[in-house]
Amino acid sequence: MKLKDEIAKRRTFGIISHPDAGKTTLTEKLLLFGGAIQTAGAVKSNKIKKHATSDFMEIEKQRGISVATSVMGFEYRDLNINILDTPGHQDFAEDTYRTLSAVDSVIVVIDVAKGVEIQTEKLVNVSRMRNIPIIVFINKLDREGKDAIDLLDEVEEKLGLNVLPLSWPIGMGQRFQGVYNLYEKQLVLFNPHGQQDEDESLTIKEPTLENLEPHIGTAAAEELLDELEIVTEVYDQFDRKEYAEGRQCPVFFGSAINNFGVKELLDCFVEIAPNPRPRITEERTIAPEEEAFTGFVFKIHANMDPKHRDRIAFVRICSGKFERNKFYHHVRKDAKLRFSNPTTFMASRKEIVDESYPGDIVGLYDSGNFKIGDSITEGEKLNFKGIPRFSPELFRYVINKDPMRFKQLDKGLIELMDEGVAQLFVKVMGTQKIIGTVGALQFDVIKYRLENEYGANCDYQPINIHKALWIEVINKEEFKDFEKRKAKDIAKDKDGNLVYLPETAWSLKMAQDNYPGIVFHETSEF
Ligand code: G4P
Repeated sequence: MKLKDEIAKRRTFGIISHPDAGKTTLTEKLLLFGGAIQTAGAVKSNKIKKHATSDFMEIEKQRGISVATSVMGFEYRDLNINILDTPGHQDFAEDTYRTLSAVDSVIVVIDVAKGVEIQTEKLVNVSRMRNIPIIVFINKLDREGKDAIDLLDEVEEKLGLNVLPLSWPIGMGQRFQGVYNLYEKQLVLFNPHGQQDEDESLTIKEPTLENLEPHIGTAAAEELLDELEIVTEVYDQFDRKEYAEGRQCPVFFGSAINNFGVKELLDCFVEIAPNPRPRITEERTIAPEEEAFTGFVFKIHANMDPKHRDRIAFVRICSGKFERNKFYHHVRKDAKLRFSNPTTFMASRKEIVDESYPGDIVGLYDSGNFKIGDSITEGEKLNFKGIPRFSPELFRYVINKDPMRFKQLDKGLIELMDEGVAQLFVKVMGTQKIIGTVGALQFDVIKYRLENEYGANCDYQPINIHKALWIEVINKEEFKDFEKRKAKDIAKDKDGNLVYLPETAWSLKMAQDNYPGIVFHETSEF
């Protein structure tokens, strides 16, 4: 098959949600439709439950699960679909941000009763920054929840999405009877106890009281007709291009646990969701159809067993064909590497692949060569963009507790940072090391892993930092002054970029006011 045809067959996407909205359940139902799994319950949730904060065995177990479910490939209607899993736990949000660099579209799951929650907001913001096409699935219609129109208003307002319902719910909770699929012009009836039945979808091109009434009763039919009238008046027509460019967001309603609304979602998804999209590098834009292979590492998963220190680097293929045992160029190291056991991830099993195509994710066994963001090519010097680091939210000094083992501590810290567990900043004055994380859990994970995998012993000390801001110097004179006055609050990130670490929001504001010739960025890529 030609490269072009392989590309046309691929759909690579991520599912994002606030914990408990139903991401795991939806993933599982999608895999069931794809025939990738046979029974419900086969996909384990990789969320780290609250009580696990200090339970490291639990973290280890969860990490094991998450490697198995990091990428789940399946075939559906002759297409190769890859779902990239994202951790639900907010302390691992950074991981999710990076995963979003490797997808071509996302599905956002929202709980009908809870509406838009904080984690959804953050993740959708990152998706929007990258113009990733988004489909919303409003879940748990079998329960009482918010009114559909109010909920869509909330999605528009809080997520800044231009929504467009492609299905419309008929009642909810006890009164939930199904949906009218506006995309296929079908009435799909809800059967709470069973699988969704193909026979229960009736094609009704022009819904009227007469043709709806026999199926859903007079009251529900009247209500549905009123609502459909509003829907047609208020919302735009579906426009594939608008969706593909991230400007229009189709919405579906359903109940994942009852396998209801999932098939409509999947059928529409495979039709409208984009194929592998071009990727931007610092040098140029890479089209997937280019013959030469290119890809980048967006995730590294370490084996927690100290006896097996290998890691798996997850590579998103961006162009050309990736072949097993062929020599490729590791751009950052300027080295030639060959991979004899690249793996693909078909639902919950891993297998060795001989060749992969744009949109695919391959896992490469790595003994420490890779870090997140690394590019692999056939020789061209390319650096993929779109894997920025975001300002951490929590900061602490790292203290070495065992002076005899400072080398182990240094090595451990560097390797853990390469994996993207947290961010390390080194103060320009005094060379003190600061770790920045998104959640408190990472500090425990780092301490535990330094001890168990590197034999190093560290402790933390509190430090007052509001945020980490990457410095862009426009006016050199101003920066000289800033550097002199604020030296104690300036550090370098692990790539040597300058970062301002103000103590308070107020100090940041003062710096912004006093130094218009310096730009303070909240992400490392600008
Ligand atoms: P997450 O990955 O987004 O965190 O959510 P997950 O799928 O684990 O679902 C969270 C809870 O919501 C689960 O219940 C799940 O069974 C339930 N759920 C998912 N979809 C629906 C739905 O359509 N309707 C209803 N009523 N519930 C739904 P749990 O009790 O937390 O877990 P479990 O014991 O059922 O596994």
